[in-house]
Amino acid sequence: MAETQLSLADASQASADLALPMSKVLRLATKEAHTEIESSDAASLLAHGKLSKEEYVRYLMMLYYVYDALEVALEGHATHRALEKTYNPTLLSRAPRLESDIAHLLDVPEEGWKSHPLHVAFRTSVPAALTAYVTRIQALSNGATPERLLGHAYVRYLGDLSGGQEIRRQVVKAYGLEGGYGTSFYSFSRLGEPGKEANVGDMAKIKEWFRDGMDEGVEEDTSMKGEIADEAVRAFRLSAGLFSAIQSPPEKDVSDADVVLTSKSTATNSFSTIFSRGLKNTFWSILRIPAQ
Ligand code: HEM
Repeated sequence: MAETQLSLADASQASADLALPMSKVLRLATKEAHTEIESSDAASLLAHGKLSKEEYVRYLMMLYYVYDALEVALEGHATHRALEKTYNPTLLSRAPRLESDIAHLLDVPEEGWKSHPLHVAFRTSVPAALTAYVTRIQALSNGATPERLLGHAYVRYLGDLSGGQEIRRQVVKAYGLEGGYGTSFYSFSRLGEPGKEANVGDMAKIKEWFRDGMDEGVEEDTSMKGEIADEAVRAFRLSAGLFSAIQSPPEKDVSDADVVLTSKSTATNSFSTIFSRGLKNTFWSILRIPAQ
């Protein structure tokens, strides 16, 4: 409850401007939240390709569960007037791409990644932040204000189409992922041309299409604009929660006897921290990823 009041307070930065189109209200309402997340330690690690490969895969697993929940929810409300104009799973769906990238990174067949030891360990200790995110999306989907899902779709998809593109470049370099393998999450097809890879200009067009769709869907409904803006601020906070569940890389090289991955993060359920060097080597050989 307290969280709702807080996020409403943030969204109220834009309250004077609820006469503006939905897309502009959203940009204003989430400006501060975006600056915060963009300048977080985890965003910097991600954007500079500094996460260990294991941690990057764990992050993709979290994203997979978020997008899976979101995309199921959006499908369930595909004809809602606020959501239907931006409902385009062929263009936007990320969950299947995340599955394919995770499988590539783990070097297993696509249908096999959920039984991989890294995922099995992940499921036995799901980060609380992920549970909170998924629970919120499902609650909206089953509740009285599914239009709030638009705030989540906005934060995720426009984020992927924006800062996500820089992250892609770093991820390619950091993990040696040439030729688009393992990075399909960051790729989009051109509007109306499935199968043709969008370049930066095409992505700008997709963003414009999405903004127009939000504006047309919500129209002049100021109360709905306020709700969706509030929810978008909350979506940024939930995304920041995922970031705080990311483990920082080790600060220095460690000796054979050392415990390998230390963490500055607040998360307590680190998969990495349980591995000593010896165990780590075994682990990486199971993963078939070179030890970091
Ligand atoms: C690595 C850190 C990040 C950087 C460098 C970054 C950078 C940017 C940039 C340059 C834009 C403007 C693009 C444009 O106007 O075309 C943008 C927009 C956006 N970003 Fe980020 N971003 C980061 C992280 C995130 C995260 C983690 C999220 C969400 C979870 C996010 C969500 C958004 C959204 C929703 C927009 C669209 C704003 C609008 O036009 O309404 N960003 N980002």
